[in-house]
Amino acid sequence: MDATSVAASQPSPQAPAGVAYPKTIKSFVRRAGRTTSGQTKAFEELGPRFILPYSGQLLEAPAVFGRNAPLILEIGFGMGEATAHIAHVRPNDNFLCCEVHEPGVGALLKRIGEQDIQNIRILQHDAVEVIDHMLAPASLDGIHIFFPDPWHKKKHNKRRLIQPPLVAKLAARLKPSGYLHCATDWQPYAEQMLEVLGAEPLLHNSSHQTDGYAVQPDYRPLTKFENRGLRLGHGVWDLVFLRRS
Ligand SMILES: C[S@@+](CC[C@H](N)C(=O)[O-])C[C@H]1O[C@@H](n2cnc3c(N)ncnc32)[C@H](O)[C@@H]1O
Repeated sequence: MDATSVAASQPSPQAPAGVAYPKTIKSFVRRAGRTTSGQTKAFEELGPRFILPYSGQLLEAPAVFGRNAPLILEIGFGMGEATAHIAHVRPNDNFLCCEVHEPGVGALLKRIGEQDIQNIRILQHDAVEVIDHMLAPASLDGIHIFFPDPWHKKKHNKRRLIQPPLVAKLAARLKPSGYLHCATDWQPYAEQMLEVLGAEPLLHNSSHQTDGYAVQPDYRPLTKFENRGLRLGHGVWDLVFLRRS
């Protein structure tokens, strides 16, 4: 554990009241799920090039991507629908994408092959450990956290990713003016995000809207999952915060 993560795991006076505050976050359960034959083929053919091994060593991004470019971290890409779209519409950025769900990793590899995407590398590992051990301070230009598990039940709220210790670590790993973009369709979580991100001293809200939420940035597509929610009348909230200089 590095110095930042030790500091970030201690209670902070800025922690908003009523927000669960564990020392470490276990934000996922390993779900069972069938890996299709297409995904298995993608693992075999594309895994060696696009999956990075987890290591306790700091990532050498230019070496693993084969070029120097702005680096965006994505936490929890699910089946990779938005991830592949964004990598396609932003060819000048490098995307480091973490996901623990094996069929999701297979699905993104399949999209990478089908769409001939070059600017994604996948870490099939807990993003919290990746942040702690593989990402240097001020090494990221952006962070995407789209529809993180809402952990609806009160007793499970402590599993949510967006809480003060992890946000402090994320903010420390952004370069000055780097961005943290979160989206959720669960209003209580949106409110927690606004409160926690607003309380992080290294960040400021980029939104000029009175409610503090951002207009959906045009690079983030409406996914199948999100469209279904919108048809059911659910709201969606985007938040974009910037690292102070
Ligand atoms: C509700 S899904 C959303 C997926 C996707 N972002 C989307 O918008 O459809 C959340 C995903 O985050 C992943 N996840 C949760 N915690 C994680 C962690 N600590 N490291 C890596 N992936 C994580 C889960 O496995 C799950 O696939």
